[in-house]
Amino acid sequence: MPERIGVIGTGAIGITVGLHLAESGVEVVFFTRNQRRARDVEREGLRLIVDHRHYHVYPAVMPLAEAKGGDLDGVILAVKAYDTARVAEVAPDALLDLPWLSLQNGLHHWAPLLERLDVERFTLAATSMAAFRVLPNTVRQTAMGTTVLGPHTPGTDTAVASFWARLLQDAGFPTVLVQDVWPYLWRKLLLNAVVNPVTALARVPNRGVVDVPDLRELARDLLREAYPVVASRLLPEWDLDHLWEDLLNLLAETGENRSSMFQDLQYGRPTESPWITGVLLDEAAREGIHLVRHETLQRLLEGLQVWQQVEGVHAR
Ligand SMILES: NC(=O)c1ccc[n+]([C@@H]2O[C@H](COP(=O)([O-])OP(=O)(O)OC[C@H]3O[C@@H](n4cnc5c(N)ncnc54)[C@H](OP(=O)(O)O)[C@@H]3O)[C@@H](O)[C@H]2O)c1
Repeated sequence: MPERIGVIGTGAIGITVGLHLAESGVEVVFFTRNQRRARDVEREGLRLIVDHRHYHVYPAVMPLAEAKGGDLDGVILAVKAYDTARVAEVAPDALLDLPWLSLQNGLHHWAPLLERLDVERFTLAATSMAAFRVLPNTVRQTAMGTTVLGPHTPGTDTAVASFWARLLQDAGFPTVLVQDVWPYLWRKLLLNAVVNPVTALARVPNRGVVDVPDLRELARDLLREAYPVVASRLLPEWDLDHLWEDLLNLLAETGENRSSMFQDLQYGRPTESPWITGVLLDEAAREGIHLVRHETLQRLLEGLQVWQQVEGVHAR
């Protein structure tokens, strides 16, 4: 019997993961925000473009609130951090009895979900797969990346996490299973806290941070400023120089991508900043450290969002 997996979210990551899983023989059912979106997916299908290959499927799809868990083996969470609370609110009980995997960025937004989901069922991943939506139902994938995953609680049984690792690996995603995924999550948060605001506010694709000396310098300063706050949570070998090299490589590999924060701002959506830079600033405040540059960019971002709300997205 093929595995049957539910994917919450029909955006960039949901479509990327869902369609690769389907291609590898997994039965995938998509869960949407509402009935209108489910009908749209039913009518148009979902498309994934990877290099010159096009995948087009008409998947099983239904609104999350109507999901049935009975015949599923697991659920993948692929919504933005700011939508996790809503998922936690509307997901039917039957889904909460299953193993869950989060491919999301940001930290601490899982709290409402963990009020309903047994932590032992929850696997977290830090992934560098990259994709963006070119049309509502069409996604271009730009990197398979590497997905590092492990149980939410370090040191606990990895049976559930290894189920997810096998599934992703079989679908072609380079995947590493670890006992403690938190250093990888913090590393991703640190790098996102550097790249997202710079690209979003300067309105440049990722390679802009590599190519434009002022932006490169700013990114380096942001990394240097935040590093001491998270250093104790990272692996010892990830010193500042190592992280800077990694960041430059990542930006070069995904040069044409627009960061998700850039896209969110462009379309007048909320951003994941409270669960990325916000977490970093909270952490710094607890340690009595003032991250002047990060705080300034956060304020600029929030100011711009308020302006957009008042004046409309095109105000920028
Ligand atoms: N894109 C990347 O390259 C990338 C890489 C690594 C990690 N991530 C992380 O992955 C997560 C998802 O990002 P993304 O880029 O895939 O975002 P996205 O393209 O905006 O997709 C999010 C999807 O979630 C759906 N959604 C929102 N609330 C929902 C709900 N209550 N029930 C069901 N579906 C719901 C949205 O529905 P609508 O279509 O109706 O709005 C949308 O289809 C984020 O945390 C992001 O940081 C992304």
